[in-house]
Amino acid sequence: MTFKLKHSRIAGTGSHLPEKVLTNTDLEKMVETSDQWIQERTGIRERHIAAQGETTVDLAVPAARRAMQAAGVEPDEIDFIIFGTCTPDQVFPNCGALLQDRLGIRNCPAVSVEAACSSFIYALSIADKFIRLGEAKCALVVGAETLSRIVDWTDRSTAILFGDGAGAVVLKPADEPGILSTHLHTDGFYKDLLYCPVGPSKGFHADESGRMPLFIHMAGNEVFKIAVKSLGSIVDETLAANGLDKSAIDWLVPHQANIRIIQATAKKLDMPMEKVIVTVAEHGNTSSASVPLALDAGVRDGRIKRGQLLLLEAFGGGLTWGSALIRY
Ligand code: ACO
Repeated sequence: MTFKLKHSRIAGTGSHLPEKVLTNTDLEKMVETSDQWIQERTGIRERHIAAQGETTVDLAVPAARRAMQAAGVEPDEIDFIIFGTCTPDQVFPNCGALLQDRLGIRNCPAVSVEAACSSFIYALSIADKFIRLGEAKCALVVGAETLSRIVDWTDRSTAILFGDGAGAVVLKPADEPGILSTHLHTDGFYKDLLYCPVGPSKGFHADESGRMPLFIHMAGNEVFKIAVKSLGSIVDETLAANGLDKSAIDWLVPHQANIRIIQATAKKLDMPMEKVIVTVAEHGNTSSASVPLALDAGVRDGRIKRGQLLLLEAFGGGLTWGSALIRY
């Protein structure tokens, strides 16, 4: 008897955004900035911010329910949960376990992964392996964040960038691929370019300047250059691994950090911006949630159709980056 690996496919997508919207004009009253500067340098117009007490898992619950509804699966069919986030509700139980409880699912493996903005791509890659090896038959993959909790609202270089939200997909086995390949990278050498340096082990002590380092610190310009270069090379890597020409891609579903980074990746693919799912203007950078939020937007408004070829990519603190080539 020969052992044949299965494939995984996306059976359904879902997303959710908190109600409150913070516009660039609102930010003009908080830090020295302007709507024009933010739009020109980032493409962001507004972002959603979680209400007081609203957590990452609170945002993930409706996103997960929508993905399950779209996939036509009941809670008791989910047999693996993987949750990408860098803003968990608490140290433990992990967000996957908290989500499992909220969805009324009992006794399946549930775990969270943290790779900053690339967490969803990492989670998707791991879930794909579980399905392909027959370890799971119905995986719930989530990317959700409340980045607003770790933003220094007095620092104009980061306060303008981030927002909150959640996205999810349900993966099921299939005879034909689905997920054709995933590609993951980390270079810890760049750990000091983008970080949030607090944690139970390192502690919550004030830094040398007397400030509590509870916030995102970013050398934006350096991160920008590495992001453009790394995402350009992962596009080549992904196409080469599948023996495909860039013309084969129907939709680019990129991490929504900055419209200029997105445009650079689209240019690398010779893709017109009409073939790129862009939500950065309305969502800002929602870290792990950004790719599944954009994917769900493209699916629900009918642009992304079954059978089309999608290139998902993300880049974030670590530095981490990753891609997924998907026949939707
Ligand atoms: N409003 C007005 N002026 C500003 C603002 C602001 N909000 N922020 C910075 N400036 C000023 C700077 O002080 C600087 O002024 P100077 O020339 O007088 O010194 C000038 O604008 C240019 O600043 P830069 O930092 O060089 O601006 P840049 O064009 O690089 O844009 C940005 C900054 C938007 C942060 C960009 O570098 C970027 O998007 N970087 C990548 C972000 C990213 O992809 N992160 C990864 C994911 S995040 C994660 O993993 C959690």
